[in-house]
Amino acid sequence: MSKHEPETTAITSGRDGSGSLSPALWTSTTWQSAGLDDSNEHALATHKSGNYARYGNPTVRAFEEAAAELEGAQDALAFGSGMGAIASVVFALCSSGDHIVAHNQLYGGTVAFLNGPCKRMGIDVTYVDGSKPGALAAAVVKGKTMLVIAETPSNPQMGLVDLAEIGAIKGPFTLVDSTLATPLGQQPLSYGVSLVVHSATKGIAGHNDAMLGVVAGEKELIDAIWGYSVLHGATASPFDALNGLRGIRTLGVRLAHQCSSALSIATALSQHPRVSAVRYPGLAAHSQHALAVRQMRQFGSLLSFEISGGKDAARKVVDGVRLVRPAVSLGGPETLICHPASSTHVGMPLDAQIESGITDGMLRVSVGLESTADIVADLQQALDL
Ligand SMILES: Cc1ncc(COP(=O)(O)O)c(C=O)c1O
Repeated sequence: MSKHEPETTAITSGRDGSGSLSPALWTSTTWQSAGLDDSNEHALATHKSGNYARYGNPTVRAFEEAAAELEGAQDALAFGSGMGAIASVVFALCSSGDHIVAHNQLYGGTVAFLNGPCKRMGIDVTYVDGSKPGALAAAVVKGKTMLVIAETPSNPQMGLVDLAEIGAIKGPFTLVDSTLATPLGQQPLSYGVSLVVHSATKGIAGHNDAMLGVVAGEKELIDAIWGYSVLHGATASPFDALNGLRGIRTLGVRLAHQCSSALSIATALSQHPRVSAVRYPGLAAHSQHALAVRQMRQFGSLLSFEISGGKDAARKVVDGVRLVRPAVSLGGPETLICHPASSTHVGMPLDAQIESGITDGMLRVSVGLESTADIVADLQQALDL
């Protein structure tokens, strides 16, 4: 376990001992063995490099080791995307007849996965408002619930779930999607949560140039997930893992800038007459700000806001920005704006969108690394159109 601050661990972790400051990019899909017995040993090994890249790759391993150390985890496993990680974890742990308790504020892809493939496979899902004290625990059915899933902060509502409450749930496995916080923003495992998952495509890799997911937790559990993952095949590419590790090296400075900028932008938006609500956990006015202060070191690069006039008004803003870019995804250097109801969460049934707080007038901003004043000015001119 690292004795340093996480910003330092981001620099020291994931080193292979070779002295090379940048990891080697191992592109090979297969490794030559010393003969039949050596080949047999490799075939029976768990989560090891040196055999076949779907089973393990040294560049991917360096990224996994860094992610594990940052989360204070015994081990981590990388995937070809955040959805690859989420789908593999769910199918590794749950079987037909099992039950999942899910926070009702989850990324649209996760909801589509739970409502589609999971239901089709006979895995039952109950959604609850995870921000309500005790709601997730109360929905657990003893002997049937295998997994409790929450996302905090949630995308795009910026709602929080109490990590101590999820960590206290025993019986089912507990999984927290911590993508919006990044490993420098909060550490769910330190609250007793079984597994933390990230779309490392976002803040961790941080440059919009890598599709990557990662799950971290106890070694025994990660090994079990690995056993399923090699069959599921959502394998991380070594090139993306290299970019993921490079992203980790600069995550500290990027996140610090993005968080300070996000707070200033959230404050400026709160004062705009056309904005009826701004959601950012760092704002004192956020309904769960006290919880955010308790469990988060930093409040993240994402915020959302509400304007009156519904989708037509939202369209005017998205079409009217000049510096900010209309695009999905988050955590990169470019500031992005999107309309969740018609993009990231379009696959979610309308009643579920409304129930989870996604409205036609909601816009989501991923704050990048441009000057804060320039971003504020651009959003203001688009709101004033
Ligand atoms: C919170 C959250 N979790 C998971 C995902 C899925 O990640 P990926 O796009 O890397 O599959 C996303 C994607 O936007 C996300 O925002």
